[in-house]
Amino acid sequence: MSIENLEDVAQAMVATGKGIIAVDESTNTIKKRFEAAGVENTEENRRRYRELLLTAPGLGEHISGAILFDETIRQKTSDGTPLVDAMKKAGIIPGIKVDKGPVPLAGFPGDVITEGLDGLRDRLKEYAQLGAQFAKWRAVINITDDNPNSTAIEANMENLARYAALCQEAGLVPMVEPEIVMDGPESTHDIDVSYEVHEAVLRSLFNALYAHNVMLEGLILKVSMVIPGKNAPADEQATPEQVAEETVRVLRTTVPASVQGIVFLSGGQSDEQATEHLDLINKLGPHPWPVSFSYGRALVAEALNVWSKDLKGNYEKAQKVVHERAKENGDAALGQWKK
Ligand code: 13P
Repeated sequence: MSIENLEDVAQAMVATGKGIIAVDESTNTIKKRFEAAGVENTEENRRRYRELLLTAPGLGEHISGAILFDETIRQKTSDGTPLVDAMKKAGIIPGIKVDKGPVPLAGFPGDVITEGLDGLRDRLKEYAQLGAQFAKWRAVINITDDNPNSTAIEANMENLARYAALCQEAGLVPMVEPEIVMDGPESTHDIDVSYEVHEAVLRSLFNALYAHNVMLEGLILKVSMVIPGKNAPADEQATPEQVAEETVRVLRTTVPASVQGIVFLSGGQSDEQATEHLDLINKLGPHPWPVSFSYGRALVAEALNVWSKDLKGNYEKAQKVVHERAKENGDAALGQWKK
């Protein structure tokens, strides 16, 4: 695929007023989410849940793309249509999570490294045949008194860059996701520490992408916001305005203008926080790149909650809930959210 096509897809992913829905929970994570909601974790329930979300009427008005998990990209809707085809019909670009998750980084207690590069070239080829047009890889950076070590940052960013180069070779837009975790086991850090770690991670990331000949015009950055840890003391929590200002400041100082778009993960923020922060960030614009959302929990948690109470009876009600969350975040991507 040519650079023009990669650019076109990347551009469509951050089309004005639209963002991405992340329904790529791994088998382990969806098990936890279903258990918490009281939904039995069967393949059929996972399929119905993803169908509920992705075929919600009107979702394509606010959602440009969706990140799927390996199981989901192979599934069909209840009437036998491949889910990928149903998404395309709704104007939603299919994407696929391709990393194999984080494991402890040997020699660096508390730091992790994302695995999944072995065999990735062949897996990407198959996903492209199945209809995926973009892929996602998440690197996890933990903050504690002793983490992250700079070796952990560099090792993770090197892997992200190798993944991104392989994606572009396969004709898939890489969504590169360094997540600086806000709700880890300690997470008592303040907003200044979050800023410093974001700056170091993003500098390292763009150095690695440059070294690996990755075309920034055909790439989407997915990143966390500069925000204090969830367990930071009350007097070190930040206002929504501070989060927006520090997030914009770090992005402007580290992310080249040629990057096609930036989207945020929600990372443990409440639904309203995630929307308010995105809105304030866009109100500080115009920025060199479109700035939107690629939320998982902040888009789908309430819909899962509603659906879990009555899997048959609440199906359409849950679809309305996810549509409403998508609309609110679409408004925030324009800086036009009304509280
Ligand atoms: P959250 O918005 O729930 O953090 O998920 C987004 C995502 O894709 C994390 O990898």
